[in-house]
Amino acid sequence: MFNFQYLKVALCTLFISSSLSKAWDSPADCSDLVIPLRVSSWNRQVEDSVLTNGSSVIALVSELALTSNSSTWAYESTALNISARYCEPIGPSPRRDAIQLLVHGITYTKDYWFALGMPGVQSRLYSWVDFATRRGYATLSIDRAGDGASSRPNPFHTDQIPLHAAVANQIAAQLKRGQIIHGRSFEKVIYVGHSLGSMIGVELAATYPDAVDALMLTGYAAESDTPLILETGLLPAKEALPARFGSLDDGYLVTSSLPGRQKAFYGRNSTFDPRVSALDFDIQQTVSVGEMATASLAKVATNYSGPVTVITGDQDATFCFVNETSDGSGPGGECGQGKTSGPARVSSLFPAATSFSVTVLDNIGHCINLHYEAIVAYAVAHDWMDEHVC
Ligand SMILES: *[C@@H]1O[C@H](CO)[C@@H](O)[C@H](O)[C@H]1NC(C)=O
Ligand SMILES: *[C@@H]1O[C@H](CO)[C@@H](O)[C@H](O)[C@H]1NC(C)=O
Ligand SMILES: *[C@@H]1O[C@H](CO)[C@@H](O)[C@H](O)[C@H]1NC(C)=O
Ligand SMILES: *[C@@H]1O[C@H](CO)[C@@H](O)[C@H](O)[C@H]1NC(C)=O
Ligand SMILES: *[C@@H]1O[C@H](CO)[C@@H](O)[C@H](O)[C@H]1NC(C)=O
Ligand SMILES: *[C@@H]1O[C@H](CO)[C@@H](O)[C@H](O)[C@H]1NC(C)=O
Repeated sequence: MFNFQYLKVALCTLFISSSLSKAWDSPADCSDLVIPLRVSSWNRQVEDSVLTNGSSVIALVSELALTSNSSTWAYESTALNISARYCEPIGPSPRRDAIQLLVHGITYTKDYWFALGMPGVQSRLYSWVDFATRRGYATLSIDRAGDGASSRPNPFHTDQIPLHAAVANQIAAQLKRGQIIHGRSFEKVIYVGHSLGSMIGVELAATYPDAVDALMLTGYAAESDTPLILETGLLPAKEALPARFGSLDDGYLVTSSLPGRQKAFYGRNSTFDPRVSALDFDIQQTVSVGEMATASLAKVATNYSGPVTVITGDQDATFCFVNETSDGSGPGGECGQGKTSGPARVSSLFPAATSFSVTVLDNIGHCINLHYEAIVAYAVAHDWMDEHVC
């Protein structure tokens, strides 16, 4: 495991008592809710297109990547219902003042943070929320607009990163004001993103620098590999999976290649259970053209002054290049070490952050929560929160 950090001020003093370092072994009390919102955001003007097959998807996504510098933007207001699940530890918790806002990546729902809905022992192995609860943290996990039980806005010109950041900004403000969880106003909101959820976290910090108190970016680095995402075989969801998505607009896409998805989202064969990646493929959700069209336009979060950490698997092929010649157990990402590695270079987006740190985890690929070593990542993440959010 590699770790690099810089600090502009001292860490929180050990305000959080050492009782926290023992496992917080209380089960979660969870409830599902719908959050109605109206948000305003600068959205990229991407015209509606007719998409019927993989080549038309690749042609459009590639063209949008090439023309991103000459894109035009419109300020729009959008009404949405966001589906969310709130979980809190049962009984007293030393972290009652703080809540984690969990935002998933492409083709997932909030279930990414709940072991993909797997029961029993699997949920112990793969559930971020289970771990967070044991460490005393409340969580709010959302289905992003366009996914799961949330509203599905236009997938070309509305379902985009700026819209998702505006949603996160409003939800964070409402959590602090006690408007989402009855009788609970949280002092601290910790934004935790995975993949596109991390890109949204960067946009949030750049556009609404005071929205959250700490930023945790998982499955993320300075650049991402668009060709590798195209190898997942993106197809219009309504064509590929009509029974589930027949009523969706053309611009909502799914992956159609299990090997392609495995290469992009997982580490080498020995790092994950193939039954998990097969389930993941079967229950996948969508990604929109608008999300792809706004994914490589990271802004510098000039005015964000909270702490930031990046937690990425060393075999994350989506955000680090693929090393085909590595040790014979299949291709995997190669996130590299040291200050020049992709994950460490994220620091350039946060010139005013109180602190910045990076952890590159061994034997983990892009979708951290779905690997055998997920618990190691959870421990790193929660140790960081205990230290930096006080
Ligand atoms: C793919 O779709 C586009 C536009 O919908 C169409 O023009 C093209 O012929 C199709 N290609 C194949 C191989 O079906
Ligand atoms: C867009 O502009 C940035 C700098 O302004 C440049 O580094 C980048 O290569 C450009 N991208 C494209 C696709 O032209
Ligand atoms: C949100 O849900 C309510 C209740 O089902 C519904 O009346 C409203 O139209 C929905 N809003 C949007 C934007 O879908
Ligand atoms: C940062 O804050 C300064 C001072 O309030 C403001 O002028 C500037 O526009 C902000 N920058 C960004 C990128 O929001
Ligand atoms: C690729 O992997 C091999 C074996 O794991 C390693 O020796 C080599 O340095 C890696 N290449 C790069 C460019 O990181
Ligand atoms: C990895 O597993 C897949 C099947 O799950 C198999 O097709 C592939 O050959 C394996 N790769 C290696 C290098 O063992």
